[in-house]
Amino acid sequence: NPVRFSGVWRFHELLPFVPQDQIVTVGEGQTLLQQADGVSKFVGLNAGNLHLQYEGMNPSGSFKDNGMCAAVTHANMLGAKRAACASTGNTSASLALYCSATRLMKAVIFIGSGKISYGKLSQALDYGALTVQIAGDFDDAMLRVREVAEQLGIYLVNSVNPFRLEGQKTIMLRVLEALRWEVPDWIVVPGGNLGNSSSFGKAFMELKELGLIDRVPRLAIINASGADTLYELHERRGLRWNGGNVNMDPIREYMDHMDRHGIKADTLASAIEINRPVNLKKCLRALEFCDGVVRQVSDQEILDAKAQVGAGGFGCEPASAASVAGAKILRREGVIAPSDRVVCVLTGHELKDPTATVAYHSTDQELFNKTLGSRGVTKASYANK
Ligand code: F0G
Repeated sequence: NPVRFSGVWRFHELLPFVPQDQIVTVGEGQTLLQQADGVSKFVGLNAGNLHLQYEGMNPSGSFKDNGMCAAVTHANMLGAKRAACASTGNTSASLALYCSATRLMKAVIFIGSGKISYGKLSQALDYGALTVQIAGDFDDAMLRVREVAEQLGIYLVNSVNPFRLEGQKTIMLRVLEALRWEVPDWIVVPGGNLGNSSSFGKAFMELKELGLIDRVPRLAIINASGADTLYELHERRGLRWNGGNVNMDPIREYMDHMDRHGIKADTLASAIEINRPVNLKKCLRALEFCDGVVRQVSDQEILDAKAQVGAGGFGCEPASAASVAGAKILRREGVIAPSDRVVCVLTGHELKDPTATVAYHSTDQELFNKTLGSRGVTKASYANK
């Protein structure tokens, strides 16, 4: 029974838009929550209090499969023949996999030129997706794909797609299941297009309403400091959900400011190199419901955290380690207490985006300088671990 072997569809009662015989699956969601004492120490938590949720164990190597199985199911219910997305790499790899493995439709993907790691690009190419390179970055590719999908009637699977968020709710269901339904104090997650954090908020709203939990964890969303729109708006400009009456002025002002000054997202955590997150509003709702906070972390902090994750477990890609780096900052600020139980979501697999990792650990000074030098990354922090 395919429903039983999917870590997403075994929760189908909580994703009630599809009859069971129409479910599309490639065995997603068989992921792991693991206690990580080395990383716990690095973050500054009491032993046993840090858990890592390894979503890189999904079939295409990232958390995206949780949502893609739901979006592709929905597209198939509608009889779609093509599905499209813009991507920093993982969404496109996931879409391409579902399209090739299920032979249900053709994947069309838009990527920013030079803005995708080869690991992720090679997946889309091998799986046979039509791959379109846009002069520009993810934000430009996102604008383009929305136009093209609308004009040509192609099913769009970016996280503006609500069915993807339904599937991604199950990450939190599996975390709670692994913790025997004891609600942790914090969920920490990297923020890019903000689909994941929005879906986590929705999961907790529904679980609370159903009486399956009696309190909700606090949510911490971590931006890379070179792609920190949510941080800027939520923490510096006080943007709030405000019961659904979001004040759009600060958002417009900040987007205009970025346009005027030609500010582009810039971080080696390429998966979250995004300045115009499409789920900004939904994510404010999750922040409000879960008494959330937003922080930003530097490339140095990301790589230092990533090395710790790799040293004590299955590793992750740079963007994923933002969660651990962010937990460390919140701990240092005293926002997270040493006795708090914290779950950091590791969104993508170690092998996805390896260039910075190799340079970081390399004794070849030239390689190090070429890849990381211009980003102000040094080796000092890792040496002191
Ligand atoms: N971590 C990884 C590894 C990602 O690939 C992404 C997003 C995120 C975190 C951020 O998640 O968008 O839900 O806030 N990657 C997208 C992509 C944008 O195209 O693969 P989010």
